[in-house]
Amino acid sequence: MKFFIDTANLAQIREANQLGILDGVTTNPSLMAKEGIRGKEAIEKHYLDICEMVDGDVSAEVLSTDFDGMVAEGKRLAAIHPNIVVKVPMIREGVKAIRWFTNNGIRTNCTLVFSAGQAILAAKAGASYVSPFIGRIDDGNWDGMELISQIAHIYNIQEFRTEILAASIRSALHIVKAAEAGAHVCTCPLDSILGLLKHPLTDIGLAKFLEDAKKM
Ligand code: G3P
Repeated sequence: MKFFIDTANLAQIREANQLGILDGVTTNPSLMAKEGIRGKEAIEKHYLDICEMVDGDVSAEVLSTDFDGMVAEGKRLAAIHPNIVVKVPMIREGVKAIRWFTNNGIRTNCTLVFSAGQAILAAKAGASYVSPFIGRIDDGNWDGMELISQIAHIYNIQEFRTEILAASIRSALHIVKAAEAGAHVCTCPLDSILGLLKHPLTDIGLAKFLEDAKKM
């Protein structure tokens, strides 16, 4: 399973990258706004900075909701760097735009996916990635991980090539469960990635080894 970091924060991207386990980055308008990035030029410069920092796919989201606007924006985003993947929302115009990008050699990440039906449409349109939002499904008292399993099953038997990108990850346990459910990629906040490191028996064991080492 590939690891993406879900942030537009350069310091956090650098920290995850230094671990040597990072395969890419996802951003969205909320994450970009959180970093105080405003205006077309600043946004494009920020995407370029991320692409130059990480050797892997970087999702950059379109803000338009009509076909022509999405295509124009996506073309501009894709021209920033070869690693840019254009992130497109799962709406009617979005599906049309994904098909256009697919036909024109531009890779896409279909975002805001909350059902298997939506995931089928994304794959039919040729999306490179489909992003089911696990945490937000859990927030509504449904089981986000069930959706990952269902999409993985469908994509497997139908031989769809779209990669399942588990998004809206909230914990280290989510990452493990997404891996188990068949996600090809997990995009996570830095804290969830670092959470994978934690086990009390590791800390206790290391303390004992270091204590015993003094007797060597
Ligand atoms: O990748 C999508 C993700 O950023 C959404 O996460 O935590 O806002 O539901 P969250």
